[in-house]
Amino acid sequence: MKKLTANPFKFGDPVEGDYYLPRPALSTTLRQFLENRIHIVLMGPRRFGKTSFVLNLLNQLENDGYSCLFIDIFNITSHRDFLHQILRAVRTKKSFKETLRSWWKKIKRLNPQISADFDPITGNPSFSFTLAQLDDEDAKTAIQDLLEGLSSLGDKVIVVLDEFQKISEIEDKGWLEATLRAHFQKLKNVSFLFTGSRKSLISETLNNPSRPLYRSCQTIDFPTFGDEFTEWVVGRFATVGIKCEKKAVKHLRELVQDTPNYVQMVCFHLVAQARTTVGLKDVEEALETVARQNAYAYQTLLNSLTLAQQRALRLAANERRSLFQKNLLSKYEIASSAALHSSINALKTKGVLDEEGTTKGSVLFDDPLFAFWLRLCFG
Ligand SMILES: Nc1ncnc2c1ncn2[C@@H]1O[C@H](COP(=O)(O)OP(=O)(O)O)[C@@H](O)[C@H]1O
Ligand SMILES: [Mg+2]
Repeated sequence: MKKLTANPFKFGDPVEGDYYLPRPALSTTLRQFLENRIHIVLMGPRRFGKTSFVLNLLNQLENDGYSCLFIDIFNITSHRDFLHQILRAVRTKKSFKETLRSWWKKIKRLNPQISADFDPITGNPSFSFTLAQLDDEDAKTAIQDLLEGLSSLGDKVIVVLDEFQKISEIEDKGWLEATLRAHFQKLKNVSFLFTGSRKSLISETLNNPSRPLYRSCQTIDFPTFGDEFTEWVVGRFATVGIKCEKKAVKHLRELVQDTPNYVQMVCFHLVAQARTTVGLKDVEEALETVARQNAYAYQTLLNSLTLAQQRALRLAANERRSLFQKNLLSKYEIASSAALHSSINALKTKGVLDEEGTTKGSVLFDDPLFAFWLRLCFG
């Protein structure tokens, strides 16, 4: 029997170490900007490796004497959530302890009904409960105080906000954006790095002159991997004695819109199946298995859409380009090109389709595996 070894592929969560292929050119570019206090928005589709890359970069920067904060705001819905995430990030910083203590005393003075036993540094179980006692105004004051406190973190500080577009989705008439902007100017020791995946939301935030963050950051597009990724994947297979053809990896990359997460996911399955060789047919089969394993989630998503939107999705998944042709509209039972337009727009707002297709009359799926699954079912 084959000995059980660790699978050389990982997917889902950010990766590091052997599971991570470095992006040295991108690191160099970002470091140059950050070292010169140019704030950055790193733009790229979901599951492309933005978080992995940023965590890796922060490690390097910490080694070079920077103090780094990583604030994950993917799931925030309010100022209180935002505050919660900042607190999680600063709690781990020794140099922030005193700032945090005196800040907490002040908050308690302002708001005496807050339970006294809460310790912002260890963050005991009542942590979120205690924060829940803050109303929105308190939360805003607390956010401002904590941002100001960043000046005590040292003279080389990097603050990352992961999934930055969430900031603009909070309906506060731009308060959070304006607060950040004010601190760009105040905090001479801090460079900000944002990541984002919703292109149109972010470009509206940065390019509309009436918005607080207008032209405040340099945007950088997160690049897809070159051939080195194919070589790397073949090499990872080799570590467990599997011979994988280069053209199989290339084919897989095309099938999943070059999404590293899905490349690793499919390869993970191929290893789990204990194969000894991997070719074109094998990656196709494995991708199909993986897509079918997600059927429940995809079916649920489909059921949440209107019938017109479902038809628009089938069309988009199967045809890919020149979607507005008359014969295609009738083939997919779509009433008119205006109807298709409004379905596509609704799907973009829901984040099912990406805001920008590459060429006119085409659309991009947010989740290429979903597109693949649609083709399996309705192709
Ligand atoms: N540099 C990389 N090398 C190898 N695999 C990667 C790399 N970056 C991302 N991945 C794959 O993509 C998955 C998602 O990465 P993540 O950093 O969470 O993406 P994002 O933040 O863009 O959504 C990882 O679990 C891994 O499988
Ligand atoms: Mg991420």
